[in-house]
Amino acid sequence: MAKRMDVGTSHHTPIKHAIMREFVGKEVRAANSLGWLKRLVWIDLTAGNAIPAYDAPWSDACSPGILASRAAQSGKPVVVDLCEKNPETYATLLDSLAKHLPGLGYRRTDEHKWRARNAEVRVWNRDGREVGTDYIQKSDAVLVLNDPNAITEWAMHRSFTALLAKKAKGIRTLSCVGFNVAGIKRTPFRRDEPGQRIDSLSQRSDWYDLIRSITDVLPDRLDLMLAGFTRDSSQWAYLFSSPKVWRDKGEEESVIASAFTVTGEPHDYEFAWYKRDEEKFTRLVDRRILTKSELEARENEPLPFDDSEGEDAA
Ligand SMILES: C[S@@+](CC[C@H](N)C(=O)[O-])C[C@H]1O[C@@H](n2cnc3c(N)ncnc32)[C@H](O)[C@@H]1O
Repeated sequence: MAKRMDVGTSHHTPIKHAIMREFVGKEVRAANSLGWLKRLVWIDLTAGNAIPAYDAPWSDACSPGILASRAAQSGKPVVVDLCEKNPETYATLLDSLAKHLPGLGYRRTDEHKWRARNAEVRVWNRDGREVGTDYIQKSDAVLVLNDPNAITEWAMHRSFTALLAKKAKGIRTLSCVGFNVAGIKRTPFRRDEPGQRIDSLSQRSDWYDLIRSITDVLPDRLDLMLAGFTRDSSQWAYLFSSPKVWRDKGEEESVIASAFTVTGEPHDYEFAWYKRDEEKFTRLVDRRILTKSELEARENEPLPFDDSEGEDAA
């Protein structure tokens, strides 16, 4: 049964972890039945400190705990790579892993590595955007978690999904994105001065490229869901890819329906699939990237055939 969270705890985090738990858990269950799959590679680009911010078991309440616990239960070999760019957070992450991993059956093999049965956890004080793909093999299925503090800190290099799609047989991503954390939608839609762009994401028009970096290389068998809060000043949304067979059985709709009530009170949300309903998907993305007045201006734009002067006299 859903547990009511302590007063003052953000509801975003437990909802995000509910989606993450299913995203990872379903991968483990599916992997057991896939003969071609030799290894699972899970890359957490934004691991954080692995200290739960609300009252729940460690294995369920932080991304390193979710990954390490599910990896330890996998029937197939799993490599878990945890990246954290902030040195102090990285140090806390190592301490937290040292405290919790032995309880899941892991033993430490190096300062930043642990092993349990089929699973290896490796921790890197590194920028997620610099993670390489040299070690990825054709018989790998890769999961990527991209959970920055705001969209302006998007931690997945823009060609990362394309590179992984070429090297591995399977790749799925989960990005947790706050489109208006601390009012970042005040960022200009376009900047005039060149040289200010790209990695700083200092113009909102670039935010569309981040989503395109996933949709452009979505394999045939996958679709991408955007599920986000309808009323939320930070405009948090979750973007994750899933097999169309799960989509068509309604499995992912059930996942988000229970995730958005996990705190004990329902939160209004909306969702769309990129391939199944691109128009709706685009509308939901626009709502997150454009300001109210930009959306209104777009809606009032005259359609090409409204221009009677330019009409062909057919
Ligand atoms: C929202 S927290 C992550 C929480 C964690 N994923 C969880 O669910 O328990 C974001 C973390 O990502 C780190 N971070 C942000 N951008 C990063 C990047 N480009 N590379 C690596 N770490 C990054 C931040 O320092 C911060 O600790």
